[in-house]
Amino acid sequence: MSVTVSTFSRKNPFPARLTRTRLLTAPGSGKETLHFEVSLAGSGLAYEVGDSLGIFPSNDAAEVDAVLAASGLSGDEPVESAGVNLREVLTRQVTLREPSRQLLAAILEKCPEAAELSELVDPEAKSVMDDWVDGREVVDILQAYPRAGFTADELVKVLRKLQPRLYSIASSPKAFPEDIHLTVAVVRYELHGRKRQGVCSTYLADRVNGGTMPVFIHSAKHFRQPEDPSVPVIMVGPGTGIAPFRAFLQEREVLGAPGKTWLFFGDRNRATDFLYEEEINAWRGKGVLHRLDTAFSRDQPEKIYVQQRMMENAAELWRWLEDGSYFYVCGDASRMAKDVDEALHRIVEQAGGKSKEEAAAYVEELKKTKRYRKDVY
Ligand SMILES: Cc1cc2nc3c(=O)[nH]c(=O)nc-3n(C[C@H](O)[C@H](O)[C@H](O)COP(=O)(O)OP(=O)(O)OC[C@H]3O[C@@H](n4cnc5c(N)ncnc54)[C@H](O)[C@@H]3O)c2cc1C
Ligand SMILES: NC(=O)c1ccc[n+]([C@@H]2O[C@H](COP(=O)([O-])OP(=O)(O)OC[C@H]3O[C@@H](n4cnc5c(N)ncnc54)[C@H](OP(=O)(O)O)[C@@H]3O)[C@@H](O)[C@H]2O)c1
Repeated sequence: MSVTVSTFSRKNPFPARLTRTRLLTAPGSGKETLHFEVSLAGSGLAYEVGDSLGIFPSNDAAEVDAVLAASGLSGDEPVESAGVNLREVLTRQVTLREPSRQLLAAILEKCPEAAELSELVDPEAKSVMDDWVDGREVVDILQAYPRAGFTADELVKVLRKLQPRLYSIASSPKAFPEDIHLTVAVVRYELHGRKRQGVCSTYLADRVNGGTMPVFIHSAKHFRQPEDPSVPVIMVGPGTGIAPFRAFLQEREVLGAPGKTWLFFGDRNRATDFLYEEEINAWRGKGVLHRLDTAFSRDQPEKIYVQQRMMENAAELWRWLEDGSYFYVCGDASRMAKDVDEALHRIVEQAGGKSKEEAAAYVEELKKTKRYRKDVY
């Protein structure tokens, strides 16, 4: 088999076309989760199930305008270090969130009335600075100190670089060799009386509009399916955590993988937030997905999460593990993945008849032998 090596990479991203957008959540949902299809045609890029797509977003033009207005600049000023004008730099190269210490220090230098910033710019007082900056954007700082009078070059020098965002790939190259599917929860919220939006999720939802966007493949060797397709897999993927497991199931269907599969999916409400419900049910019907357990957290007064479904099926889950099943988790790192990990320990303890220490050693062994795989964020 010949292997094509693409000239595109994180350093030289491919301008990929966004070919399709579909709302996955139904009207009335408190969330806006979208399915995107991105074309890799002509790139020579290849991906594998488990990989993520890296996207370099652009900032919203209205946010760029607000920063320009607050700094008294037009945007047409050339930025020597970048070789493009200020508007271009503010649009594609720097973040307008997360004001830097350097920005505060520069304002302190330029505006005597900014003395209150002096305790924040002390590198020893990182937590004070972090607390103060939390929820503030670059525009808030520039508006507060209108006399700072930055030149375009000075302003660019004190802003942080705009970072790419990663998204778990929700398709299999065996089913879609030239396309990548994504499952994205759009970040919109209100803070301190102002509407805020996530940079990249709203870039995808609102601003690419059938155009192209700079992308790269982020390989995730730690999140591949078992090499032996007869090995069973347990997949825990609430919310957008479903993305890589849709790719797993697509691939297993194409390959006719004989190993058993078990999916735990959860989201807020069954009626509005059961992402890819039809496809998942079809895989159940075709025997690609052998077991499905769902946890809709807000369909009843008390919250029900995926880990509760795991606990309810502890004996069977234990049997699957003992039969050599791999255990996969994808989605929220801060709470969900920790709670699922705790549930896994309890299942090994209770259904496996082990002490706390033995259960910890068992789970550790799952990790060491790479049968416990996580892609959490
Ligand atoms: C390996 C990996 C895979 C991923 N896969 C997916 C995926 O498949 N689907 C997906 O949707 N995401 C995924 N993510 C997350 C994704 O990369 C982005 O972090 C996410 O889309 C938000 O990016 P953004 O630019 O829209 O928001 P940003 O501009 O980065 O803003 C997000 C920040 O806004 C703040 N914020 C958000 N909500 C609130 C609130 N209610 N109140 C106060 N502050 C708030 C928080 O500080 C948060 O960190 C993945 C991340 C990784 C690392
Ligand atoms: N680090 C981060 O900032 C971060 C990480 C992941 C996602 N998000 C943001 O969250 C939004 C939606 O993301 P998403 O669709 O992937 O998932 P999500 O909405 O956060 O959660 C999906 C489901 O998981 C439930 N859940 C909440 N806490 C849980 C826990 N401890 N254990 C198990 N399940 C739990 C949720 O229930 P309830 O909501 O009813 O409690 C919901 O039913 C997006 O805006 C995304 O950017 C942020």
